[in-house]
Amino acid sequence: MCSRRRALPFALSLTFVVGGLSGCGDGSGDQFTPSEGFLSLPEILRDGPPEGAASTTTESRNLTDPSRTVTGLGPHLNRRFGTLKDPRIWKDLPLDFHTLEQSESAVSDHAAATDNLSKAGVLFRKNCAQCHGSSGAGDGPSAKYFSPRPRDYRPGIFKFTSTGSAGRPSRSDLEATIRRGIPGTNMPSFDRLADSDIRLLVEYVRWLSMRGELELALVREVEFDFGDEIWKARIADGESEADLNQEAIDFLQHDLPFVAANAEQNLIERWSTDDVDSSAVSSEHDPPPDTPQSRRRGELLFLSQRGKCVSCHGKAGRGDGPLTASFHVDPRTGEEYPQRGLHDVWGDVIVPRDLTGGAFGGGDRPVDLYRRIAFGINGTPMPAYQPTLDEQEIWDLVHYVRSLSGTPIPVSPSEDNNSDKGEGT
Ligand code: HEC
Ligand code: HEC
Repeated sequence: MCSRRRALPFALSLTFVVGGLSGCGDGSGDQFTPSEGFLSLPEILRDGPPEGAASTTTESRNLTDPSRTVTGLGPHLNRRFGTLKDPRIWKDLPLDFHTLEQSESAVSDHAAATDNLSKAGVLFRKNCAQCHGSSGAGDGPSAKYFSPRPRDYRPGIFKFTSTGSAGRPSRSDLEATIRRGIPGTNMPSFDRLADSDIRLLVEYVRWLSMRGELELALVREVEFDFGDEIWKARIADGESEADLNQEAIDFLQHDLPFVAANAEQNLIERWSTDDVDSSAVSSEHDPPPDTPQSRRRGELLFLSQRGKCVSCHGKAGRGDGPLTASFHVDPRTGEEYPQRGLHDVWGDVIVPRDLTGGAFGGGDRPVDLYRRIAFGINGTPMPAYQPTLDEQEIWDLVHYVRSLSGTPIPVSPSEDNNSDKGEGT
């Protein structure tokens, strides 16, 4: 049995071959790692009906129109994204493989883009798959040794974004993460890579994430009617397997095309509005000055009931607040986690930053800290303070947090502002 991080909820026979989607093990293979939800769907929905399925199901309802090919979710995903070895993109997908350096052999724009996509895959497998897994499921061979774990890109949850709470990261967010690494975690800096390679990797992370999100969206659409447990319950209620199969074929034939088109449209929209939401930090290029008064206001807010920072970060900001020592309930199951401490949405313990260390995961410029406090850190208990606190209050906190690691008050505030300009986003 393939042991993912958490035992699968049901005993599954994994002997089937999911069209291009198998892949147990350590995520280092050349298949997309399927989500647990996908694996829990009946085979007929994953793979589509076997040849001649119509004749073996309810004779009285001649539902399978032989002129239309009925595909399962797996083959549909393959049609859209191809495989890791033979990857695909389609025109509307907000990916920019075209403007990257053109390969000599490419005869068309599309071929050039596909060529670049393949090149990006090679780079990813060489530099990133060890941790993130070759399909970006966060399941590379060394992933299990790290805390926090290497990101699983498939749910589209990224921590260090400039796009507001729950927004997808912008290209410059991803680029900054890849160049800087994530200090204090095992995510290394890749600043030594060529600019063109970093751009390819940014697009490839987006591509993997979009592929994963589409799979999750499709699974969500079908599991309500056809999830493994529902399927079993319906059989236990006296429905026949043949009727259920026929209903599934019906769904694949008549509904899947619309459901998929809708899910794809949502995906495209989510990943298209990916530019920095500068309206969220209106004073980004002209922040209020870092002064002793501002730091003091920040300190009071940090220690206050409104800020609640202390409950997690502790009075001195060392990351040891009372919530790090208590037990918490897993919102997904309603049960208490076995370990003490705050947990992230991936079910792992997450320690609040020690703010006295001066190393920050999402960058240490004032505007980076502003974004972390205003938008929170997706996937973790670090809350978003916008709009609870106003802009001035958040800047006060930024100045106070910087003071905790001994950052001196800038001699001339205007000089400090200048150095924050052109911050590359
Ligand atoms: C040695 C292990 C390791 C390698 C190699 C590695 N990463 Fe990571 N990566 C991590 C870890 C661990 C995290 C999660 C850190 C966290 O949650 O704070 C992460 C997180 C990320 C994130 C998520 C950032 C966010 O905002 O949530 C991206 C994007 C990323 N890595 C891209 C890459 C790319 C691209 C490569 C290859 C060029 C790469 N990583 C190589 C360990 C690694
Ligand atoms: C419910 C717990 C919780 C509260 C309340 C909380 N934080 Fe956090 N904070 C966290 C956690 C957890 C992290 C680490 C997340 C990560 O790195 O994945 C974090 C990280 C941070 C970071 C580091 C950002 C970076 O780039 O690494 C800063 C700065 C921060 N918090 C400031 C604050 C301030 C200021 C407040 C109060 C206004 C606050 N936090 C309230 C849990 C909390």
